[in-house]
Amino acid sequence: MKNTIITFKQSKQQGNKISMLTAYDYSTAKLMDEAGINAILVGDSLGNVVLGYEDTLSVTMEDMIHHGAAVARGAKNAMVVVDMPFMSYQTSVYDAVVNAGRLMKEGRASAVKLEGGKEVCPQVKAITEAGIPVMGHLGLTPQSINALGGHRVQGKTQQAAQKLLDDARALQEAGAFAVVLECVPEKLAEKVTKELEIPTIGIGAGAGCDGQVLVYQDMLGMFSDFTPKFVKKFANVGQVMKEAFKNYIDEMQQGSFPSQEHCYSIDDDIIEKLY
Ligand code: KIV
Repeated sequence: MKNTIITFKQSKQQGNKISMLTAYDYSTAKLMDEAGINAILVGDSLGNVVLGYEDTLSVTMEDMIHHGAAVARGAKNAMVVVDMPFMSYQTSVYDAVVNAGRLMKEGRASAVKLEGGKEVCPQVKAITEAGIPVMGHLGLTPQSINALGGHRVQGKTQQAAQKLLDDARALQEAGAFAVVLECVPEKLAEKVTKELEIPTIGIGAGAGCDGQVLVYQDMLGMFSDFTPKFVKKFANVGQVMKEAFKNYIDEMQQGSFPSQEHCYSIDDDIIEKLY
């Protein structure tokens, strides 16, 4: 059954956890969809894990549209949420609505995600009123990495914790259907989750959230540049891939690949008559 914002709402009401992973291409999205994932996030983490940038700031609307559409083609039942890249919504409410619209029309998203609290609520309200579901993102917001001073846990002081809770309430009020909590203390995420009617999706925010999201290269052990404390490796696919690449190189160099079973035949006559 197709997952929608209704699934998110009902999951929270019924206490069913919402599963979400990032994906950036058709084949991976199809595998996740077949595994029964509720939602796929085409995150702007694309910049780090696919494009090899140091941060997410250089990711463009064209990047998100290109990868969003590929994921949407592979996701039959999963809800596809596409990230709004840096400076595609911060500049104005108008830009936000136009760019969210492009992610829906050209990127085939079912919803968009953007980072920030009260300061982006006018954008969240306008996008929602245009008929586009919006997922919020609080805590460690990678597009503000320079303002935050690096990758660090957010909401640790009284003031910061209160701000995060107030921002979460403001996003809900503005019409967001869910909110990602990244890198925040477990007890604060629990409090926010209890206070909100909309579901929280945690990443580095403990088990008390209504759902979880992880970057798929992290949970499969395919990305080694930087591994946050909150990542669990559910498989070491990176190692499996490396071994397969080595085996390919060895077999190809030794001449055992390709073997007969991988070759196409032709009548000897034809070859003999060639001049
Ligand atoms: O871009 C991304 O992958 C994200 C997740 C870390 C939530 O925003």
